[in-house]
Amino acid sequence: QASTEGAASGKVILFGEHAVVYGSPAIAAGLDRGARAVVTRQPSGPSTLRLGDGTVVADASSASDLGRAFSALLEVAPAIPPVHVEARCDLPPGGGLGSSAALAVSIARAAEALARSGETRPEEDAAIEARVLARAAAWERIFHGNPSGIDATAAAQGGIFRFTRAEGARPITPRHDLVLCVGSTGHPSSTRTTVELIASQHAKDPVLVKRSIDAITSIVGNAVLAIEAGDMRALGDLMNMNQLVLSGLFVSTSELEELCALARSAGALGAKLTGGGGGGCVIALVPPSFRSDGTRDEAREAESAARILDAWRGAESH
Ligand code: MEV
Repeated sequence: QASTEGAASGKVILFGEHAVVYGSPAIAAGLDRGARAVVTRQPSGPSTLRLGDGTVVADASSASDLGRAFSALLEVAPAIPPVHVEARCDLPPGGGLGSSAALAVSIARAAEALARSGETRPEEDAAIEARVLARAAAWERIFHGNPSGIDATAAAQGGIFRFTRAEGARPITPRHDLVLCVGSTGHPSSTRTTVELIASQHAKDPVLVKRSIDAITSIVGNAVLAIEAGDMRALGDLMNMNQLVLSGLFVSTSELEELCALARSAGALGAKLTGGGGGGCVIALVPPSFRSDGTRDEAREAESAARILDAWRGAESH
């Protein structure tokens, strides 16, 4: 095979971002949108990656984060031979929607497929997927410093799941589908910066930060129960509480707060930032509507979602 393809999804973190870095659980869900990569074998090095209008060379001492991340991904053992990668991402960069992890997983999947050229047995699939995650982790360390792995896990498997650093992902079965609106501040943010901000608060006052992490841990535990029980009102309240704790950790901004407030006044059951914060996106929970026979009324839910999106459109930042 001269060239192979890989795909991966974006994600939203429903609960527990940042606390997950310190070993607490978080809940994430995969998005339909994501990244796609085509990897072509090259006769000789160096490996190159084209993303949008730019091309970077895989180089461990590159001035570009992307060049270093690409190199780190290829160098995880067994190293990938020289390749050219054409990658595309349908998620806003720095939006908190997992664009970086989705790119990493799509490139790693395509590169693994190329390197093994269809010669693997099904029992090797788990080992290959573990290597894809290891390659994505090496990439994410360049961008994020200390990634928990939740973004790469969501990119690789999609669905809705609870995640901890120690135990990885455990799928959650929602009693009812969750309908969420995603709104962007329009300002990209750096997860590395907000993760480091909390790390420096933690270094100065570990007890205070631990209190917030403990609060988030109990919010996440209750959120799993609310999702499984289909208690959307409780889930919305828990989103608002999680947002409050995140703003106490200084990773919210006035724009994120405004988008959350607008969503709540437009009928959302709850709203919070998603991902690293400091900019990026918010998520808002759309109230479920049921017909008299108990089935979901999707048309009414779409109207409720449209009210939230309209409220965001009316705001200066959206
Ligand atoms: C970023 O999507 C989620 C954070 O918790 C960082 C991480 O888990 O690696 C902020």
